[in-house]
Amino acid sequence: MIELAPSILSADFGRLAQAVERATAGGASVVHVDVMDGHFVPNITIGPPVVKSLRRATQLPLDCHLMIENPDQYIPDFADAGADWISVHQEACRHLNRTLNLIKDHECRAGVVINPATPVETLSEVLDMVDYVLVMSVNPGFGGQKFIPGALHKIRRLAEIRLARGYSYRIEVDGGVAMDTVADVVRAGAEILVAGNAVFGKGDAAANAAALLEAARSAALQRV
Ligand code: DX5
Ligand code: ZN
Repeated sequence: MIELAPSILSADFGRLAQAVERATAGGASVVHVDVMDGHFVPNITIGPPVVKSLRRATQLPLDCHLMIENPDQYIPDFADAGADWISVHQEACRHLNRTLNLIKDHECRAGVVINPATPVETLSEVLDMVDYVLVMSVNPGFGGQKFIPGALHKIRRLAEIRLARGYSYRIEVDGGVAMDTVADVVRAGAEILVAGNAVFGKGDAAANAAALLEAARSAALQRV
């Protein structure tokens, strides 16, 4: 099943509830929350208080993408604030297995993320325990960047490994997903599509979300 997860990073932070409501009206079914600490990535965004407010504003699952160092220190706070899904970067976790278990202990879905320069193979020992794998198709830190096509073979590889080993993780893609790239990521095997600029950049978020989802679903029919 294809799902659209709009990234609120590109929304008006003064009107987050309305932004989420518009995207939901267009068919979005997950809310992607980009958490940045100014250390792991060169930008600072939001923390648990905003997640807590969003929790009251929507029924949709909140997908918290932690682009932070030392995520173990903050996972309990995000879970308590109402996160449903929490993902951590492979590159930021010295004890990745422990961190993923910590997410699960807090009754959240656990995801692992890889940057554009990180191979899928680095995840080989955790693919049996994650609920989803997030493939970055830009270098994390900012919305509105250009899609890096190298993400496509990583998505394909993750789909192959899942089939070959009987795993059940879902495949999410994040960065530069827009009308001109959405068909490629879906054909490669991505199921959860994060989009910030393409949903909230200009025009009506409901119409933008609906158009992206329609393009994604028709590309899914062409998957081989
Ligand atoms: C990048 C973030 C993304 C970003 C996506 O660091 O993880 O979620 O907001 O934005 P677009 O869709 O504009 O590339
Ligand atoms: Zn993200």
